Amino acid sequence: MIPSRRNFLRLAAAGTAAVGLGGTRLFAGNHGGVGAAAVQGSPQALRIPPLFAGGTITARMAQQNVWPDIATEVWTYGGSYPAPTIRVRSGERFTAQFSNMLPDHSNIHWHGLLNPHNMDGHPNDVFENGASYTYSFAVAQRAGTYWYHPHPHMMTGPQVYRGMAGFFIVEDDEENALGLPASEYDVPLLIQDRRSEAGRQFSYILDDAAQLDGYLGDEVLANGTPDAFLEVARGLYRFRLLNGSNARIYQVALSDNSAFHVIGTDGGLLDRPYEVTNSMLAPAERLDVLIDFSRFAIGDSVTLKTLRYQGGTGRQQGAEMAILRFDVKRDGGSGGAMPATLATIEKLNPDAAVRQRDFTLRTDDGSSPPMHMINDRMFDMDRIDETVHLGDLEVWSFTNATLYPHPMHLHGAQFQVMDRNGNTALEPRDMGWKDTIYLPAYSTARVAVKFGPYAGVYLVHCHNLEHEDHGMMLNYETTLNDSAVEDRDADASRMELR
Ligand code: C2O
Ligand code: CU
Ligand code: CU
Repeated sequence: MIPSRRNFLRLAAAGTAAVGLGGTRLFAGNHGGVGAAAVQGSPQALRIPPLFAGGTITARMAQQNVWPDIATEVWTYGGSYPAPTIRVRSGERFTAQFSNMLPDHSNIHWHGLLNPHNMDGHPNDVFENGASYTYSFAVAQRAGTYWYHPHPHMMTGPQVYRGMAGFFIVEDDEENALGLPASEYDVPLLIQDRRSEAGRQFSYILDDAAQLDGYLGDEVLANGTPDAFLEVARGLYRFRLLNGSNARIYQVALSDNSAFHVIGTDGGLLDRPYEVTNSMLAPAERLDVLIDFSRFAIGDSVTLKTLRYQGGTGRQQGAEMAILRFDVKRDGGSGGAMPATLATIEKLNPDAAVRQRDFTLRTDDGSSPPMHMINDRMFDMDRIDETVHLGDLEVWSFTNATLYPHPMHLHGAQFQVMDRNGNTALEPRDMGWKDTIYLPAYSTARVAVKFGPYAGVYLVHCHNLEHEDHGMMLNYETTLNDSAVEDRDADASRMELR
């Protein structure tokens, strides 16, 4: 009796397998034999987020057809996923009345912008459902690709995952004079991975594995578009790549392995274009690139993808995935050109630093849930962990003592990378002004940072959002130093004399 039952089960299993294979063959036959890739989804034109120039911005839930024919519940700024793109000229004041209609407290952090601390979106400054707050600040920074997202303590991961992230692009005269590709040839590209399971909803269910590796998806969305394609002309394009993923680290490349040029990083343009065939891009980092499609013929396609790489941990971290397919459709182009030189970057001199601080990153992966620490501390909202002086130049050294990668990010200041594991030869992605640095497993990097322009309490944290939410964050306070106080007094007395 028992053997026959076992045989029956074996036959049943074989039968299921046969039906499955037959089904697959039939499907492939109907679609001209294009194979497994076509079964994944149908290509959609790249979404371009709406523009927002200031005014009321409401955080609220919405329904959106992220995948065709399926309504996904998204959390948004202003009803749109991705969040609207903000474009501001350096020197202008930007004002947004934030109104929170989410079933959760929230706020806005302007990532990469140097703002007074009460405008920075610190997790201490959050607003309940029904509350509002006016963010208003003068944008004094050089042109660059910055961004915005919520920053509530322990809730940044789920809120960003559900859709809340957008570009904050700053323009200035120096950049405009370069004649780089503009308007439709200047494409902000938000890169995020999502789990296509769970009925194609942005459900965020954190288990120990996701708290350890970060919340990783199986599909990459470009500007919120799965299976995205963009029709391009045979000309030069600027793409502002932003890794807005919770945890996925990309190694971006073109599918034909051809070269493109890096022209900028987190804090704006580099000194000149640098030719590469690929580049790492960790969460929160930006990479401003020029891609020249003139070498392709009309009818050709080439895909921006992430390469398979070593050292990834967790669910498909380091897997090869498509990001955006370019379909070359027509002649013509932007008229934009690639200049030989780009911007002047004031080089910080680390020899003049007043001190070096060391930060060691550790993960307790034996505990459940796992914990992430900086210098053996987990984040405490009300504890100031480091005190620095406004205007001081310091060297900050980050050591990743774990097998998990950690992208480290600073609020309130931009920095310059000095070396990695003592090596001062930098790849383009580490050049220029940065606010986030990718730290692979068991590695050290040093950055030079000059604190300012504002005093106040700011953050240093890992931008793997699950690490950030679960401990890997510290407060540092920029204070007026003695000489600054003296200067202020001196100014006051001068004014009295007048
Ligand atoms: Cu984009 Cu504190 O983060
Ligand atoms: Cu930030
Ligand atoms: Cu981390």
